[in-house]
Amino acid sequence: MGKTADILTGFPKTWILDYGAKVTVRPMAKEDRDKLADFFKRIPEGDLRFLKDDVTDMRVIDQWVRDLNYDRVLPLVVEADGRIIADGSLHRRKEGWRRHLASVRVVVDVAHRHKGLASRLIDELADIAMKEGIERLYTELPTDDRAAIEVFQKRGFKQVARFDRNLLDHTGKYHDLAVYHLDLATRR
Ligand SMILES: CC(C)(COP(=O)(O)OP(=O)(O)OC[C@H]1O[C@@H](n2cnc3c(N)ncnc32)[C@H](O)[C@@H]1OP(=O)(O)O)[C@@H](O)C(=O)NCCC(=O)NCCS
Repeated sequence: MGKTADILTGFPKTWILDYGAKVTVRPMAKEDRDKLADFFKRIPEGDLRFLKDDVTDMRVIDQWVRDLNYDRVLPLVVEADGRIIADGSLHRRKEGWRRHLASVRVVVDVAHRHKGLASRLIDELADIAMKEGIERLYTELPTDDRAAIEVFQKRGFKQVARFDRNLLDHTGKYHDLAVYHLDLATRR
């Protein structure tokens, strides 16, 4: 497995999106606290149930920026005009029997959806994971998160399991959970 410095090689990066916009992609930093809070405030109420953590709680964001450890969680943020417009993260443990795995999560600002941002973030995180010797990526999604399921399936992820009433959202409603895998050796 590589060292943190290797993971960060090449960042910040500039992406030119299909429609010509120029955005910056870089690892999350401590200084992003307020920008992140602002980003998550703009996520519609209806989408909050698709997110594992309560991102409306400032303590959650404070903990993320305080405990930054790129070897454990590598969060990439996409910035445009000084605002965060997307966040994608790679989660792993370097020790133990899951050391060959990493999970991926992604959120995109409503105003910047359907422009391929989530797909590019997943690809970027998969490239990093491959360089780090990770063998398999996985993601856990509520079965009613159609947008995310489409995105991950388009990147080659396959559903491998489904768990009944496995998620309890912030409104107290239960959802089924599906697990999707992408074996990096078979990645197109
Ligand atoms: C899921 C999410 C990240 C997608 O972001 P995005 O940047 O709009 O996704 P992309 O533009 O890369 O989409 C790629 C493909 O996925 C599919 N897709 C994306 N959004 C979709 C939707 N709402 N319904 C159906 N298919 C969708 C399309 O096939 C799309 O390709 P196309 O634009 O050529 O048609 C975004 O909707 C989001 O932030 N949702 C809330 C948070 C969430 O659910 N996160 C997942 C938890 S890990």
